[in-house]
Amino acid sequence: MSGIDCFRNIGQLVQADASTQPGIRLRKNCALLVQDGRVHKILKDSEIKSSKGYTKVIDCEGRAVVPGFVDCHTHLIYAGERKDEMVERMSGVPYLEILEKGGGILNTVRATRRATENELFDAARKRMKRMMALGTTAFEIKSGYGLNLNCEMKMLTVGKKLRASLKVPVTLTYLGAHAVPEGEDREAYLEEIIEHLPRFRTLADGIDIFCEKDVFTVADLRRLFLQAKLLGFNLRAHVEEFSHQGGCFEAAKLGALSCDHLEHAAPRDIQAMHAAGTTAVLMPGVTLFLGGEKHPLSHSMLDAGVTLALATDCNPGSCPTYNMQTVLTLAASMYRLTPEQALAAGTYGSAKALDAEKDYGGLLPKQRADFNLLKTNDYRDMFYYFGENFVDATYIAGKKFRAPKDPATQ
Ligand code: NIG
Ligand code: FE
Repeated sequence: MSGIDCFRNIGQLVQADASTQPGIRLRKNCALLVQDGRVHKILKDSEIKSSKGYTKVIDCEGRAVVPGFVDCHTHLIYAGERKDEMVERMSGVPYLEILEKGGGILNTVRATRRATENELFDAARKRMKRMMALGTTAFEIKSGYGLNLNCEMKMLTVGKKLRASLKVPVTLTYLGAHAVPEGEDREAYLEEIIEHLPRFRTLADGIDIFCEKDVFTVADLRRLFLQAKLLGFNLRAHVEEFSHQGGCFEAAKLGALSCDHLEHAAPRDIQAMHAAGTTAVLMPGVTLFLGGEKHPLSHSMLDAGVTLALATDCNPGSCPTYNMQTVLTLAASMYRLTPEQALAAGTYGSAKALDAEKDYGGLLPKQRADFNLLKTNDYRDMFYYFGENFVDATYIAGKKFRAPKDPATQ
């Protein structure tokens, strides 16, 4: 057992867990004690009489401390950019039409297949470091830009190496069913995915599918999930994003850990998520970036007792942002969530979407000491002066993360 670090003079300390729904627990003028990378205790600041007994005492100058953000839905391993498509979309071409013409996801598939494992690793590592500098302390990463056995395995191997290299929690998801590869038959490709599932068991914790008009059907989702469930994968699904297909209801019925996107989810789908304990992962950055108008029924979800989570969806097509602070502020203004609700969703809720809420996300005793020291004494400034970076320092397992200096582009 190692010594105790004392973060004292914290003006606001935010904690999050299920018992604090719809928001968070706010503690004022306190000290956070960290031992072995975990939260040891939280005391009143006045109880800290001297630095005796502590390895280190860090003065937080009355500022706010919030749990590290949990980005529970990303596609951050990829090669190539899609700026031309962004411009095309801005002149009116819909996202799914670009995919149908062999662009979109398939564009990134071509670039990712060409890239070596090292190239993918270096690019993704830079992205993650930028995300950590902006306050993210735990990640979910999906494959899905390989769409064949070798390249999907290459992506997930990169994911494992990123986890080891950056020493942050990384949950990996196999998303072979992200799109139908060019020139292949949908049913035959799905068959191939199902046949290869056992080989992904040691590489990925979960399985995902993009269930959408002209991509994969609800029946495909059911076939894949039944098999994946037998093998012990966690189930997640991209559902009801551009249209209502019924994938959310089916996924929840089969016990999905999370249903993601949900712009077109209906009240019946919300009931199914509640009954199954499925977390709703919302990604307002996608709606903003694609210029969509439809928002998920976030308040019906909250009223029904469904846990909300927030994520970037970080990917080169529908949301290239690295910034969970942006996502939280967008959720607050687009979905009319209070700062408390948005913060709880991006920390506790997102950890729950990864089945990790006991380990991190709430800054509770015994949890990982993953947190952000803000530049302000009021965490609501992040929502009010939106667009600024309010993270002064990110602490991962109690250690200060050294932010990179390189620019935000790849
Ligand atoms: O979650 N919706 C499908 N897949 C991703 C987009 C990936 C891409 O465009 O490259 C998403 O938005
Ligand atoms: Fe996604």
